[in-house]
Amino acid sequence: MERHAYNGLGVAVVQSASRGIGLHITRALLEDDRYTRVFASCRRPASAAALEALRTSDQRSREKLRVLRLDVLDEQTVAEASDTVMAQADQVDLLINCSGVLHDEGRIWPEKRLADVRAEAVDTAFRVNALGPLLVARAFESSLRASRFARFVALSARVASIGDNRRGGWYAYRASKAALNMMIRTLAIEWRRFPRPIGCFAIHPGTVATDLSQPFRKNVSAKQIFSPVQAAEQILKTTHGFTTEQSGGFYAYDSQPIEW
Ligand SMILES: NC(=O)c1ccc[n+]([C@@H]2O[C@H](COP(=O)([O-])OP(=O)(O)OC[C@H]3O[C@@H](n4cnc5c(N)ncnc54)[C@H](OP(=O)(O)O)[C@@H]3O)[C@@H](O)[C@H]2O)c1
Repeated sequence: MERHAYNGLGVAVVQSASRGIGLHITRALLEDDRYTRVFASCRRPASAAALEALRTSDQRSREKLRVLRLDVLDEQTVAEASDTVMAQADQVDLLINCSGVLHDEGRIWPEKRLADVRAEAVDTAFRVNALGPLLVARAFESSLRASRFARFVALSARVASIGDNRRGGWYAYRASKAALNMMIRTLAIEWRRFPRPIGCFAIHPGTVATDLSQPFRKNVSAKQIFSPVQAAEQILKTTHGFTTEQSGGFYAYDSQPIEW
């Protein structure tokens, strides 16, 4: 079968698809006939009920979607997920990293002031938000290299912009996403030297109605909040429009560049 039949699209990996934006990106990719296979990862497949419901929702999803276990805090699961994909697909054309942590059942909470900073929370934010996508990049590099023009996307956040930081606070989240942006930029430089370059992009999805933003949406006007369905559509439209020249950049959901 010709895997590159659709302008280089064909096989997609969604890293963290148990809920939120990643789940809806997975749903959109299943409905997109340009993709023949979709691998969607989660930390705990046995309790990822929404992802399992999506996988079993119809015959096409059953055939097209494969669920993988991947926890970015556990390198072995990252390697095993990559091995599974390599055994089942000749290449990966699109990999979207959706994992992210802003708060976590009280153990992690965005800091209002310096006195709120907790080393363990900062450490977790950096390991999930910044190091996580880098480990995924390393593990999936050879699958991405096999594609004609693979795209590697990480969901960042506008609050990571240093130039645009006017309100302060949120030390761990801001800094970990800024570190992620630096990693995307650095990866793009390395990956554009390949005979078949891999494009790398950091995307701010906007404010999206998910568990992550739920405690912080009361001061945001309803018009500025996207549903996860809308967010997934916008992210994929922007991603499919990227050219090699745009690799290494930080963009909003509507493809407008964001200052570093
Ligand atoms: N929602 C927004 O307004 C907004 C704004 C700016 C940026 N973002 C970014 O967009 C991305 C998606 O956010 P969302 O709104 O969809 O959040 P969400 O609904 O809270 O989902 C977060 C996802 O990250 C996963 N995750 C957490 N720790 C992980 C780990 N160690 N390994 C693998 N996966 C892990 C979660 O898996 P479990 O289900 O297993 O916990 C879940 O699938 C994040 O990177 C976030 O920072 C979101």
